[in-house]
Amino acid sequence: MSDQQDSKFMYNFSLVIFALVVIAIGAYFMASHIYTGYVESQREDDMVASRLQPVGEVNSSGAAVTVASNVAAPEGSGASAEPEITDPNERAYRRICFSCHEMGIGGAPKTGDATAWAGRPEKGIATLMQSVINGVNAPTGVMLPRGGLPDMTDEEIRSAITYMMLQLPEGAAAAAGVDG
Ligand code: HEC
Repeated sequence: MSDQQDSKFMYNFSLVIFALVVIAIGAYFMASHIYTGYVESQREDDMVASRLQPVGEVNSSGAAVTVASNVAAPEGSGASAEPEITDPNERAYRRICFSCHEMGIGGAPKTGDATAWAGRPEKGIATLMQSVINGVNAPTGVMLPRGGLPDMTDEEIRSAITYMMLQLPEGAAAAAGVDG
């Protein structure tokens, strides 16, 4: 091989190497660009899919739809995992009165505690109702009018007191003058 041929070969060879390097770099950038776009579109697809999810699904099983009893229904949803209270007296009591009286919070005479209620049933249902309707401001504790729930009707207050009397030892309901 002549020197001239040598240098011609080297020139062509360098050109080929250069072209390969350019192609390799180009391929690298193109691949990384495509990959990034792919990852981004995947993330978007996931987000779109999650937003398009139906709120509920069609129940094609034919079985009646029931609220699972081990799942607490969201508050105010109308559905409740709690068993329905059938006693109207207890239902009235559960509206607000239980929040203090059940545990004896804030000086409230605890439901079912004969000592805390001593002397009260004897006042009679009419007086007890007046205490609740007007509220009580005793040194030991405060009860707001109607237990703090202005839309408690007199009838509901009577029912709630009846429930509370019936939790006391026998005789309290009769002393208060409510049905036992
Ligand atoms: C914020 C807490 C609270 C709530 C809610 C509450 N009470 Fe009371 N209640 C008290 C306290 C405190 C007393 C005791 C005051 C005292 O020492 O005489 C009391 C006393 C009573 C008495 C006895 C009154 C008397 O003359 O001796 C009755 C009956 C009563 N509550 C019924 C109810 C009913 C019915 C409700 C629901 C409508 C209710 N309470 C809601 C705190 C509460």
